[in-house]
Amino acid sequence: MSQVLHLANARLVLSDRVITGQIVIIDGQIDMIEQGDDVPVGAVNCQGDYVMPGLVELHTDNLERHIEPRPKVDWPHLPALLAHDAELASTGITTVFDALRVGSIHSADSGYGAYARKLADELLDARAAGHFKISHFIHLRAEICSETLLEEMAAFGPKDRVGIVSLMDHTPGQRQFRDLTALKTYVMKKRGMNDVEFAEHVANLRTLQARFGEKHQTGAVAEARRYGAVLASHDDTTADQVRASAANGVGFAEFPTTREAAAACRAHGIAVMMGAPNLVRGGSHSGNVAARELAEAELLNIISSDYVPSALLLSAFQLAKLWNDLPAATACVTQNPAKAAGLNDRGKLLVGQRGDVIRVALVGDTPLLRGVWSQGKRVA
Ligand SMILES: [Fe+2]
Repeated sequence: MSQVLHLANARLVLSDRVITGQIVIIDGQIDMIEQGDDVPVGAVNCQGDYVMPGLVELHTDNLERHIEPRPKVDWPHLPALLAHDAELASTGITTVFDALRVGSIHSADSGYGAYARKLADELLDARAAGHFKISHFIHLRAEICSETLLEEMAAFGPKDRVGIVSLMDHTPGQRQFRDLTALKTYVMKKRGMNDVEFAEHVANLRTLQARFGEKHQTGAVAEARRYGAVLASHDDTTADQVRASAANGVGFAEFPTTREAAAACRAHGIAVMMGAPNLVRGGSHSGNVAARELAEAELLNIISSDYVPSALLLSAFQLAKLWNDLPAATACVTQNPAKAAGLNDRGKLLVGQRGDVIRVALVGDTPLLRGVWSQGKRVA
């Protein structure tokens, strides 16, 4: 027997407009969308709530928070994966690219050992067994100025269906950490370093960049090609860096740190992603360009929840207010990220797309999630 979900009297957020109507999802796929306010027998009356595509998240560190809830506390991985999955479902995210770091630094206590391969196996097993509420893919965060990057990346291959490889260089004094004061506050607080230790830490990381930066960037680009993954840049700051990213075949830019870099991305046809917390808080916690400024200049295409899953939906409604355009703002958390990650089967309310939808009411300006469905199945 077919599994049917029928939502009626909803404000359906389509790609280009909002209509009042009904949507039918049969066996996991959108089967019918129709305008009008009637509520047929058996349909759910959404009472004018918004029904939107499920959110697509390309870069979240949230899984790390679950596997290491406190520094040095290694939580059992399967329960951590399940709790992370349920948390994302509860915020309206129906597709996630889980960021796993590849590349450890042994010489400069980075707080990281190699963990990505093992965790990826556990994630892929849980996915294959059907344990997840939402759709999960792997995003490898390639820390290019690290000692073990290429050996960790060599352990992955096309069968892992790695969706995204992002090229990261967090060497102090540039990109995300152009301003050393923000880094200093973060590192000294997180690792309890004093001034001398911090200076040594910075010197160590700069030595690593000189040794590995170029070679590992070339290697990581080749690995992404071997996997068939989309390549992302990270924290690009200058037009030159964006040019280099374009030459590497980057599809989207994570968190460009200046307006100059965002404008260069647009010139090269690279989609710009900014963090939802930056948009919600009205600025970047590292002192970089405000997502709001890029949004006002229409240099923003994708929003990522980054380190606060529930910020994704909230930021979409804030952006909708700023732009006075709910469909365009919704696209930044649905169809634009889906497209950037090469997923054509989701991100829009359109017949034939996956039946990933959310129902949202507004309390003042705050979105209140009333239901989340993944392939037509209720998951939150
Ligand atoms: Fe970064």
